[in-house]
Amino acid sequence: MTSLTLRNTPATTTRTDVLVVGAVAVDDGVRAVGPGAEVASAVGLGFAPTLSTLGFSGKAGEVAKLPTGGAVTSSLLLVVGLGKPGEDAPEDVPGDGGDGPAAETLRRAAGVAMRSISNAASVAVALPASDAGQLRAVCDGLVLGGYRFDTYRSKPSDDAPTEVVVLTPLARTKEGRAALERAEVVGGEVARTRDWVNTPARDLVPASFADQITAAVRDAKVGGKVKATVWDEAVLAKEHCGGILGVGQGSDSPPRLVQLAYKPRKPVAHVALVGKGITYDSGGLSIKTGPGLMTMKCDMSGAAAVVAATLAIARLGLPVRVSAYAALAENMPSGGATRPGDVLTMRDGTTVEVQNTDAEGRLVLADALVLASEAKPDLVIDVATLTGACMVALGTRTAGLVTQDESLRAALHDAGERSGEPLWPLPIPEEMRAKVRSSHLADVRQHNPDTSGGALFAAAFLREFVGGRRWAHLDIAGPAFNTGDPFGYTPRGGTGTAVRALVRLAEDLADGVTV
Ligand code: BES
Ligand code: MN
Ligand code: ZN
Repeated sequence: MTSLTLRNTPATTTRTDVLVVGAVAVDDGVRAVGPGAEVASAVGLGFAPTLSTLGFSGKAGEVAKLPTGGAVTSSLLLVVGLGKPGEDAPEDVPGDGGDGPAAETLRRAAGVAMRSISNAASVAVALPASDAGQLRAVCDGLVLGGYRFDTYRSKPSDDAPTEVVVLTPLARTKEGRAALERAEVVGGEVARTRDWVNTPARDLVPASFADQITAAVRDAKVGGKVKATVWDEAVLAKEHCGGILGVGQGSDSPPRLVQLAYKPRKPVAHVALVGKGITYDSGGLSIKTGPGLMTMKCDMSGAAAVVAATLAIARLGLPVRVSAYAALAENMPSGGATRPGDVLTMRDGTTVEVQNTDAEGRLVLADALVLASEAKPDLVIDVATLTGACMVALGTRTAGLVTQDESLRAALHDAGERSGEPLWPLPIPEEMRAKVRSSHLADVRQHNPDTSGGALFAAAFLREFVGGRRWAHLDIAGPAFNTGDPFGYTPRGGTGTAVRALVRLAEDLADGVTV
């Protein structure tokens, strides 16, 4: 992982291989901002025209490399675009606490910089970082954009810079150190999530995933404040987890349920986090077709995110009690697999008619939601790559936020917006309740033959298992896995989405925000 240090020295006299500066798009070309302005004047009148010649206009996401020719002590300038002032450029949104759209612009620019640099021994970053919010955004973007996944290459592919110096007047202040620590902790947990998601399903089956989670708890050095419990298939049977067992029974790799408990001394709230952990989703006997099968190692993203968020919250020592539940199973077709038409009995005794074995996420979540409710938390939040329908509705960069609790909806929407992880409200229309309860055989049906509103039916099904508690469901099927080109600080493959929004919510609770 990239290691960051803060330093309060002028950008012009910093001796590194690469110096990163930011520039905005203005009417007559580009203008360097923050500490980059000094660098631009040292380079002289040629700065803006040279950038224009290179086709750089200052748009967000753009980069240009300029040799400095000795004008400043670093040898190469990496200029990153920050967009138009007034739209999203950071200088025009003062005092937004590093949480508004300007923060996301900075985060993305820092991420783009980290993705554009290879083979540099030393990097200095001179992006606007004069208040704690800006500094935090820059550090977040650097850590998130410096992510690489090379485990499956015979040789490392490209090398992200390992040593990065962030130039800021907040170096050696308490605020500065806190911003840096937070970026490293949260960024590290996002990286852990991405690693798990990117690991091929052959190497991450429920049992090995459970082992890795317990190992992560040990490594996180949270001083025994997080306790992990793993239920294997025998315990799952004794504990009546018919949903998790039913989904897992077609696989040679048996299911697991992992519980994490973080109990700070004086918690301001108790939050239960529940994650869908299908280590591979073939669809089961209702098997998927070619393209649908390609990315389904990502179907444990929810479980990975809730585990990582719990670890981040514990490592930051936030006064929020967290009970996390990762429901792990592999959904495979075999002679032992659950069939469409079978009936499963969930932990609370509810019987479920299975009609499509590819709608497996809701089955493992049902048991985990029942278990979560038994702990009597103030809030229950589940995170799941649940439905293709949610991607149809919201695209690949926005998660569905389904809850009928207005205050929780507002808090999560806000936390998502400020962390750059958009969550958008979807309803549970009243008619869905009757649809869920319309099985001719069992208490509820798991699948609606009328596929319209598929994300909403799924949420209505989950609602049956939360025992009336305050609850929100995050459908991350779109943003969990990036099949397109990298952008901003988001790499190809696993994105680690939801970790930062959940940590943000816990920080808000810790700051006394009432939800
Ligand atoms: N894991 C999938 C949802 C998914 C699709 C996640 C694409 C990420 C990308 C889920 O288990 C699933 O198969 N859902 C079905 C539900 C249907 C059978 C009701 C779907 O969306 O098609
Ligand atoms: Mn499925
Ligand atoms: Zn699935």
